Amino acid sequence: MQLAQRIKLIKPSPTLALNARAKALAAQGVDVAGFVAGEPDFDTPEFIKQAAIDSLKAGFTKYTPTAGIPELREAICAKLQKDNQLTYAPDQVLVSTGAKHSLYNIFQALLNEGDEVIIFTPYWVSYPDMVMLAGGKPVFVQTREEDGFAPDPEAIRKALTPRTRAIVINSPSNPSGAVLSRAALEGIASAIRGHDCLIVSDDIYEKLLYEGQFANIANVAPDLFPRLVVVNGLSKAYSMTGWRSGYAAGPKPLIAGMQMIQDQSTSNPTSVVQKAALAALKGPTDFISTMVEEFRARRELIVSGLNSLNGVRCRKPEGAFYVFPDMRGLLERSYKGAPVGTSSRLSEILLDDFRVAVMPGAPFGAEGFLRLSFATSRQVIEKGLSRMKDFVATLS
Ligand SMILES: Cc1ncc(COP(=O)(O)O)c(C=O)c1O
Repeated sequence: MQLAQRIKLIKPSPTLALNARAKALAAQGVDVAGFVAGEPDFDTPEFIKQAAIDSLKAGFTKYTPTAGIPELREAICAKLQKDNQLTYAPDQVLVSTGAKHSLYNIFQALLNEGDEVIIFTPYWVSYPDMVMLAGGKPVFVQTREEDGFAPDPEAIRKALTPRTRAIVINSPSNPSGAVLSRAALEGIASAIRGHDCLIVSDDIYEKLLYEGQFANIANVAPDLFPRLVVVNGLSKAYSMTGWRSGYAAGPKPLIAGMQMIQDQSTSNPTSVVQKAALAALKGPTDFISTMVEEFRARRELIVSGLNSLNGVRCRKPEGAFYVFPDMRGLLERSYKGAPVGTSSRLSEILLDDFRVAVMPGAPFGAEGFLRLSFATSRQVIEKGLSRMKDFVATLS
């Protein structure tokens, strides 16, 4: 069948594909140590589930306003004020079916054919494809592990062109777990200040922080607030990945444009999920700190385990639940008579022969690295590390 040209521009999400493969192996009874999933292994808190059940029982099952129910948009404004010191009115907020959907709407509403979007590497796999689906062109600015994955302002200046319409910031980052310091954010601000582009700040991992304090670029450069769009959601902090609840807050014309896209595609986010999101944003937050403390312990375990492997170097992430070890020390070594070669080959060997599922760095724009999610039990982490140790021992 002849399909649209745009389908050829994009790739299937590699994380979803690898996760599906690891799950299929597990379903066949293979004991896989999985480090692929980008979701907390905690259950959604009971009070949030209950809010959805109550609203379902009360018959809250009809269409809602496309942008989300007013009380949820108000609760989002209150959250952005309290947690982020960002002042928004409800008509500057659009609730969507996950933060991924919010990002998709942004690029669809913003970009014309050939417009450029600056993305820092390593990046979350979906940014470039979403930009391309909207007819845009991703322009990559490399960051280095040695710099804590903070971009060099000079490199940003060089990447800016008259066609640059947006720059994406994601801190804490998927895949590196790196958190941009205030100085790093100031560096980005200084580079783009003279250039009229939108700042897309994907703050989805904001609550998963092990060191320091979270800052959005508008906190260090308030003058840039008028051209900021904040993207956030319930998936990570509230362990609600499957519910699909995210939102964007930003300049009114952009939000209105995004709403038109949403009007003509998905309409409102699921009614009862909005009630659950409302309960989450208004409810207690102690379980977030419990989850973060558990992630912190796992972070220690996985970072020290990886660093004990000969040829592996792993930076300690300040946030999110990913480690992004540099595996280049292993790639030239031989496995079964041939050099390991690439991060993709390395992840294939680990899955096929050692039953460890990890993401190669290449789809994140960082060949030579792997991404491991530590949103999994300590037992799985220990098992995975021990299997990786067995793998390293076979290399010559
Ligand atoms: C950086 C980043 N942004 C956005 C998302 C999307 O989250 P959701 O659509 O579940 O809200 C993810 C999910 O993995 C992510 O890692």
